[in-house]
Amino acid sequence: MSRFWSDHVNNLQPYVPGEQLAIENLIKLNTNEHPYGPSPKAIAAIKQAANDSLRLYPSYDAKGLRQSIARLHHLEVENVFVGNGSDEILAHIFSGLFLRGGRPLLLPDISYSFYRTYCRYYQVPFEIIPLAEDFSIRVEDYTQQRDVAPAAIIFANPNAPTSLLVELGDVERIVKANPDTVVVVDEAYVDFGGKSASGLVKQYPNVVVVQTLSKSYALAGLRVGFALASPEIVAGLERIKDSFNSYPLDSLALAGAQAAIDDQDYFNEVRKAVMDARDELTKDLQGLGFTVLPSATNFVFAAHPEHDAAHLQQALKERGVLVRHFSQERIQQFLRITVGTLAQCKRLTQELATILERNAE
Ligand SMILES: Cc1ncc(COP(=O)(O)O)c(C=O)c1O
Repeated sequence: MSRFWSDHVNNLQPYVPGEQLAIENLIKLNTNEHPYGPSPKAIAAIKQAANDSLRLYPSYDAKGLRQSIARLHHLEVENVFVGNGSDEILAHIFSGLFLRGGRPLLLPDISYSFYRTYCRYYQVPFEIIPLAEDFSIRVEDYTQQRDVAPAAIIFANPNAPTSLLVELGDVERIVKANPDTVVVVDEAYVDFGGKSASGLVKQYPNVVVVQTLSKSYALAGLRVGFALASPEIVAGLERIKDSFNSYPLDSLALAGAQAAIDDQDYFNEVRKAVMDARDELTKDLQGLGFTVLPSATNFVFAAHPEHDAAHLQQALKERGVLVRHFSQERIQQFLRITVGTLAQCKRLTQELATILERNAE
C-alpha cells in the first residue's frame, strides 16, 4: 500500500467476492447467480434504451421503477428507495442509520460477510450474536430487554450462507420488541421460499426491508437493489444518495429493472424452476451422505461427515465445478452450492460421487 493512504484504509479488510473465472465449460455454482437469463422483456427494454438519449443523465428519482416496486409490494412510491445493487443501499444504511451515540449494531456471527466489512469501513460499533447450535437465529436474543437499546439489528432472511428462514411472525416479534432500534431485514433470497416483511413497513417505522434484483430476477450484472421503509427513512436515504452520487442507476438499468419487475409471469416461472431443482439437488446430496440444511434460498449449505469441505471444493474446481467454501469457524466443513439448472446440478453430484469414491479408496 502507498504511504499516502490513511491508517483507516490500510486497516480495511475488504469483502472477498466469489471467483469469476473466464474458463469455458465451467459450472459456476459459487456466487448464487440465477441459472436462467432475465426476463426477455427486460433484455428488450435495455436494448430499446440503448439509443441516442444516453447522452442525457438518467432519471434522478427513478420514479417509474419505484412505482413498479411500490405496486408489487402494496406500498407508496415514497416507501421505496433504489440503488446500485443492494450492497450500495446497505452501505448507505450502515453510514446513515447505524452510527447512533455509540450504541451497538447487533448481527449474527454467521451471516453475509459484507456486514462486518461495512462495520469496519464506517466504524460502526457492533456486537456479534451467535446463532443457535443448529444455525437458526434465536429470536429471543433479539427481543430481550437490554440496559441500552441497540442502535440497530441486521440479519439476512433467509440467512446467507446458512439458507435458513426466520418466519415472518418472528421477524415481526423482533421489530415490535425494538421500537427504538432500526431493524434491517436483508431479503436478498426471500423470493425462493420466504415471505417478505414488506407488509410490516406501513405499521412499523423502525423496519427497513432490503431486496435485490441480482438473485430471483437474474440481473446480477445490472446492479439494482431496493429498500422499503417509512417515507422518513427513504427521505434520509435520498439525502445520503444525493450527497454521494445522484445517479446510481443508469438509464439501461432503470429500463431493464422496471421491465423485469413488471414481468411477474416470467419471474414466477423461473423462480419455481430453481426451487424445484433445489429440492432435487438436496435429495441427491443427501443420497451421497451430505447433511443439507433446509434451504429457503437459491443455494444449499451442505456438509459431509467424512469428507473435508475445503478438499471437496478444490477437487470440484479441478473438475470444472465452482462452489463456495468459507474458512470461518463453525462453518468450515460446509459447502455453499448455488442451485443451477437440473443438468448442472446433476453434473455436480456426479463429480462429487466420483470424488467421494476416490477419497474412500
Ligand atoms: C445476503 C445478501 N445481501 C446482499 C447481497 C448483495 O446483492 P447485490 O447484488 O444486490 O449487491 C448479497 C449478494 O450476494 C447477499 O448474499
